[in-house]
This record gives sequence, structure tokens and C-alpha cells, in this order.
Amino acid sequence: MNTLLQDIYEEVKPMLGTGKVADYIPALASVNPHQFGIAVCDTKGEITSIGDAKVPFSIQSISKVFNLVLAINYYGEEMWERVGCEPSGLPFNSLVQLEYENGIPRNPFINAGALVVSDMVQSRFASPYIAMRDFVRRLSCNKNIVVNKVVAESEYEHRAKNAAMAYLMKSYGNFENEVEDVLRNYFHNCALEMNCEDLARATSFLANSGMSSCANGKILSPLQTKQVNALLATSGMYDEAGSFAFKVGLPGKSGVGGGIVAVVPRRFSICVFSPALNSVGNSQLGVAALTSLSERINWSIY
Ligand code: DON
Repeated sequence: MNTLLQDIYEEVKPMLGTGKVADYIPALASVNPHQFGIAVCDTKGEITSIGDAKVPFSIQSISKVFNLVLAINYYGEEMWERVGCEPSGLPFNSLVQLEYENGIPRNPFINAGALVVSDMVQSRFASPYIAMRDFVRRLSCNKNIVVNKVVAESEYEHRAKNAAMAYLMKSYGNFENEVEDVLRNYFHNCALEMNCEDLARATSFLANSGMSSCANGKILSPLQTKQVNALLATSGMYDEAGSFAFKVGLPGKSGVGGGIVAVVPRRFSICVFSPALNSVGNSQLGVAALTSLSERINWSIY
């Protein structure tokens, strides 16, 4: 595994300097774009990593995976009445489908879907973002994971579009709680800071039929794990989901903080971090590194 990561790292590193860090969240605009790290966690919990794999970063939309898993644990199949499982083919923060589709978001990984899932979690916990923080701490065996309050506040200040989605869904009856409360918790989840090793560990249950290598137990059933991986494969990379399937062929989830997690079922989970993004908001080096990985291991889910 060491040699594999070394080879990928050397191949992709010359691309540093291409892409652009997310600046629509002002607190993220000052992140150093010249960072690149990779970590892999096998089904026994063994970690191999390279580069900036221990540097914490804003997990942003990767939090939508943990948010979804938390909700599945409380709602089971019932939750699919409020959020769909179809790809959107549109940018992650697009509003246009919501009105045509009566306030039911296409999937849990676009912002509208993650907001509905956050609303569901909010109905079950007195402190939803503490529940989420504790959940990711447990999944990654790292008690030091925290929310970056400056990032959370910066997102809240620039919440207009996410707020518009949430209020539109409320007008269709697909939102139970106060929109502003849910938005605050959603932004706290996005502003969690984790490193590649934490994220590879925290998603290892997706490579292991729902059993965590770290939290020492069942996180999802094998059927639920299959469902989450299917959603990641079809919707985890937003409007790049098709070409990511074409080039990489693995379930994956990106965040505008520059992280991407991917799953090689029954083998390992992987996280790549490099903050400069491509035109659809996915890490430029992250996509390149996972493309190289899939070619080198000559394996995909298809
Ligand atoms: O709500 C937002 O726009 C951000 N907190 C999360 C966006 C994100 O990471 C989209 N992913 N690529």
C-alpha cells in the first residue's frame, strides 16, 4: 500500500497550483492551496498515509455522509419519503428542481437534501451538532475533532441560498423545525475539521458491510451500506458524478474544503485532500489521485 500511495502522490503532485480554493465561504478563501495528502484505511483499521494526511481541514459536504447515516439510524426506510435517491445533474446548491418536485430534494447529498436530513436529525437531538461531532469522533477514534466556529459563522452570514432552499421546502411541508436553527446546525457540521486519516477511518464501515474498524461495532446493516454506497456512486460528486464514475468507478463524496472520500468495497476506504477545486467544486488533485488509484489497482465497482 505504501508504494501504491507513493506512486500516486508522485504522479499527481506536479498538478499543485492548478484549480482554485472555494471563496464563496470567505473563511475558506485563505486556505493554502499547496497542500496534498492521502490516507487509506483497510477493513482491519490499518492506516497508510502520505503527504499532508494529518493536516485538519474543513470537511464541508463530506459531513452529509455522516448526517445521512445518523438519520438512517433513527428513521430507517421512512426517511426516503422526504428525500429522493436520484442524481440531480445540477450544481450542489441549485434551487431549480425543488419547486418542480414539490419540495422533495433529489438526494441527500445536494444541499437541499442535506438540509432536510439535518431537519430530521434536529427533530431527534437536543444538540444536533454535538451529536454529530460525537458521532464522527467515535467513528474516527479521535476525541479531538472540533467544529471551526469561524467557518460556521462565516457560512451562516452567507446563508441566503441555503436559507432560500430551506424556506421553500418548509412551504411544501417538508421541514419540521425552525429554518434558522437547522441552518446553524448544518453549518456546524460542514465546519467540522478532520484530517485524511480521520476521514479514511470514519468511512471504513462503508468498505466493510457497515462494520466500523474503529468504533468497534455495527454502524449500518449490509443493505443500508449498499444503499449509501449506491447514493455516493450516483450523487456524491454532484454534476461530476457521471465522469467520476467513468474515470474512477468508486462511490465517493467531495467537500468544498478540498477533501474527497472514496470507498473500495470490501477492501478499503480512502481520503484525499487538496484544497484547490475544479470548476464544479471538487478537489482538482483529489479527482486526479483517485483516477490514478483506480487505474493502478485495476478495480472499480462496475
Ligand atoms: O452549504 C454549503 O454550500 C457548504 N457548507 C457545503 C458545500 C460543499 O462542500 C459542496 N461540495 N462539494
